[in-house]
Amino acid sequence: MQFENSLGHAKSLDEDDILKNFRAGFILPQHQKEDAIYFLGNSLGLQPKRTEQYIQEVLHQWGAFGVEGFFKGDQPWMNLHQQLTSTLSEIVGARPHEVVVMNQLTVNLHLMLVSFYQPQGKRNKILCEAKAFPSDQYMLQTHVRQRGFDVDKTIIEVGPRIGETLIREEDILTAIEQHKDELALIFWGGLNYYTGQLFNMQAITAAAHDCGAKVGFDLAHAAGNIALNLHDWNVDFACWCSYKYLNSGPGAVAGVYIHERYHNDSSLNRFAGWWGSKKETQFLMQKDFVPEPSAEGWQLSTPSPVLYAAHKASLTIFEEAGVQNIFNKNVLLNNYLHFLLQEVIKQTPSEHMRVLTPGKAGEKGCQVSMLVKNGKQIFDELSANGVFADWREPDVIRVAPVGLYNTFEEVWKFSQILKRAINKFSK
Ligand SMILES: Cc1ncc(COP(=O)(O)O)c(C=O)c1O
Repeated sequence: MQFENSLGHAKSLDEDDILKNFRAGFILPQHQKEDAIYFLGNSLGLQPKRTEQYIQEVLHQWGAFGVEGFFKGDQPWMNLHQQLTSTLSEIVGARPHEVVVMNQLTVNLHLMLVSFYQPQGKRNKILCEAKAFPSDQYMLQTHVRQRGFDVDKTIIEVGPRIGETLIREEDILTAIEQHKDELALIFWGGLNYYTGQLFNMQAITAAAHDCGAKVGFDLAHAAGNIALNLHDWNVDFACWCSYKYLNSGPGAVAGVYIHERYHNDSSLNRFAGWWGSKKETQFLMQKDFVPEPSAEGWQLSTPSPVLYAAHKASLTIFEEAGVQNIFNKNVLLNNYLHFLLQEVIKQTPSEHMRVLTPGKAGEKGCQVSMLVKNGKQIFDELSANGVFADWREPDVIRVAPVGLYNTFEEVWKFSQILKRAINKFSK
């Protein structure tokens, strides 16, 4: 598509947008009595208007039926889970029984490491991205220590080359090849939280399997953002949170994918809890744990119907909008943003701003990370002008317009505000 740097063009893109009516289904934060420009889908997605009603229904059911709400009422809580996994499995490209909704992201990553980090002899190493999200690093370190290994010798990090910001795919594949006899697990963030770089999960998975290692992904910044195909890519496991692109609220219940080949694999360790029991026998209170033969077999505890309700409210919007339509609009919005940022660069003093996120299709999602001189001042200026962006020390501004509630007009306005801010603070 041929983009133009004008309000009229942005408005015409909005006119043609088949998802334009979905914005009205969200509560937009206000700035000086107008809708703020909320570009933080990568941090906390906005609240769907229907969420309150979905939660109210759970509260009503609790009030009306007490514990029997698990089995009675319009939406018995025991069945709620099944209502979530069909849309979610479409979002992550899995089969419904490969997806389970439970806990939070870091907790789930720990559970997956229990099952998928099975060091044997010299095959005990974990390969991961350098500067992964801190929680992921702590999580990996804990498992390595807990199995009695030295963190520095066991976790192999692959980072950008000196002077570069992005990690080259060839360097990941070379590292896998170099360590092929020692790798137990390759664990990677599907889309890097800092740079916005999207990785080739299919290629990483194939290389991991070729060398006999398991492979898992943290999809916090990918789920609901870009099209995924976890089952066909043959990924072993993946975890994500639901409060970013999945708009399910702060501390939302998270999601896990586990490839179906493991559902009956009793050789895998797992932490067991009664909620993972085979459904027919869960309430027989037997001594031995018999897991449900699906991803649900990894559940531990009684889930919260309140959190399920908030998740479901959001997933129904994905369903109504069409998952692929959302991904298509995300791409278009992001392409427009990249185009306008190049215009900003042309219209501001040289070397004041650099876009870290790759501009090429297949290497990015909704997010764009920018390295800006006097970054904190510029970030504060954006906030003062009603832009919700995100500041990451030491010098990065991140924004992520999303298809369900952002507009092309907002992207254009943002570029104007950014240009003015850079010009103001470059004097
Ligand atoms: C990439 C990534 N991994 C892990 C986490 C931790 O998530 P949680 O606090 O839900 O466990 C986050 C949180 O933003 C994240 O961005």
